[in-house]
Amino acid sequence: MRKLTNILVTGGAGFIGSNFVRVLLNDSAFKGRVINVDKLTYAGNANSLNDVAEAKGDRYIFEHADICDRAKMDEILSKYDIDTIVHLAAESHVDRSIEGPGAFVQTNIVGTFTLLDAARQFWAGKEGVLFHHVSTDEVYGSLGDTGYFTETTPYDPHSPYSASKASSDHLVRAYHDTYGFPITLSNCSNNYGPYQFPEKLIPVMIENMLQRKALPVYGDGKNIRDWLYVEDHNSAVWAIMQNGTLGGSYNIGGENEWENIRLLHELIDIVSEEANINKEELTSLITYVKDRPGHDRRYAIDCDKLKNELGWKQSVTFEEGLRKTVKWYLENREWIEQIQSGEYLKWIELNYSAR
Ligand code: NAD
Ligand code: TYD
Repeated sequence: MRKLTNILVTGGAGFIGSNFVRVLLNDSAFKGRVINVDKLTYAGNANSLNDVAEAKGDRYIFEHADICDRAKMDEILSKYDIDTIVHLAAESHVDRSIEGPGAFVQTNIVGTFTLLDAARQFWAGKEGVLFHHVSTDEVYGSLGDTGYFTETTPYDPHSPYSASKASSDHLVRAYHDTYGFPITLSNCSNNYGPYQFPEKLIPVMIENMLQRKALPVYGDGKNIRDWLYVEDHNSAVWAIMQNGTLGGSYNIGGENEWENIRLLHELIDIVSEEANINKEELTSLITYVKDRPGHDRRYAIDCDKLKNELGWKQSVTFEEGLRKTVKWYLENREWIEQIQSGEYLKWIELNYSAR
C-alpha cells in the first residue's frame, strides 16, 4: 500500500471533490494533510467543507487558486511538500460545454497540462509520489442497446466536455509513457448525492419538484445513464490511489442503468413521500423538451478490473442513495439558496479578492 501524506486535491470545493476530502479525512488510517486547491467557479463552494475545516484543524488547508496558474501551482507544491495529487478540478457540465466550450478547453486541457508539468518538475528524482486523474466514462462515447465500456474501449467523445476530458486523459497517459511520471487514472459513470450543483439531472429535478417548476426531459427520455453514489466513487478512487497499478486506468461504475424517464418517476415517488407533495401534481410537471445536441444514448460500465484487482464494490443501493440525496436537499435549503442567489459570489469577493 502506498504511503500518501500531503495530498493536494484540486476541485475540492466541488461536488465530488468536497466528498473526497471528507472521505479522506474521515479515514482513520490516513494521518496526513489535505490541501484543497479550488478556483471557486460558480460550481465551487468552500462552505461545503466548513464542518471539516473546523473538525480537522491544520490537517485541512484551503487554497483559492486556478490550476492554470503555473507560478501558483509551483508555489503550492513546494509550500506543502506535496507528494500526491488527486485531480478533480474541471468544468463538468455537458450543457454548459455546448454553450461555451472555451472554459472547458482552458481548465480541463490547459489546466491539467499546467498541473502535470508543475508536478513533473517538482517531483523530479523523488520516489513515492502519485498523480491520480479523475475522469469520466463519457470519453468512450455512446453505446447501443448492448455492451459495456471497458478500460480498452477506444475513445470516441462527442461533446466539448467529453472531448476536453479525453484530451486530459491522453496528456496524463503521455506523461507516464514519455517521462515515467507516476499516474493512476479512473473513468467513472454518473455520480449523484449531496452537494451536487443543481444543473445536473438529479438535483435539477429535485429542485424543480420542490418549486413546482417544469421537469425538463430531453428528447424521448430514453437515454440511459449508469448511476453511482458519490461516496462509492470516492472509495474507489481512494482504493486506486493506494493500491492501483502505476500507469493503470480503472473504470468505476454503479452497474445501475436507468432510462432518464424511469429514473424521474422513481424520484417523483421519493420526493412525494419525503416532502409530502401529491404524486400526481409532480407527475404533471414532466415536460418533454428539445433534445441536447450530440446527446449520447447509453453509458454502461464494466468495472470488473476494479472489483477483481482491488476488491472494491458499491455499498449504497440506488433506492437508499436517492432517498439520502432527496433528504439532504430538503434539509439544506441554505446551501441551495446561497449558490443560487449570487450571495455566495459576493462572499467570495469579500473573503478572497484581497488575497
Ligand atoms: P463540479 O463542477 O461540481 O466541481 C468542479 C470544481 O472544480 C469546482 O469546485 C470548481 O470551482 C473547480 N474548478 C473549476 N475550474 C477550476 C480551475 N481552473 N482551477 C481550480 N479549480 C477549478 O464537478 P464534479 O461533478 O465534482 O466533478 C469533479 C471531477 O469528476 C471532474 O473532473 C469531472 O470530470 C469528474 N467526473 C464527474 C462525474 C459526475 O457525474 N459529476 C462523473 C465522472 C467524473
Ligand atoms: P446530466 O446530469 O447533465 O449528466 P451527463 O449529461 O453528463 O450524463 O444528464 C444526465 C441525463 O439526463 C442526460 O441523458 C441528459 C438528461 N437530462 C435531462 O433530460 N434533463 C435535464 O434537465 C438534464 C440536466 C439532463
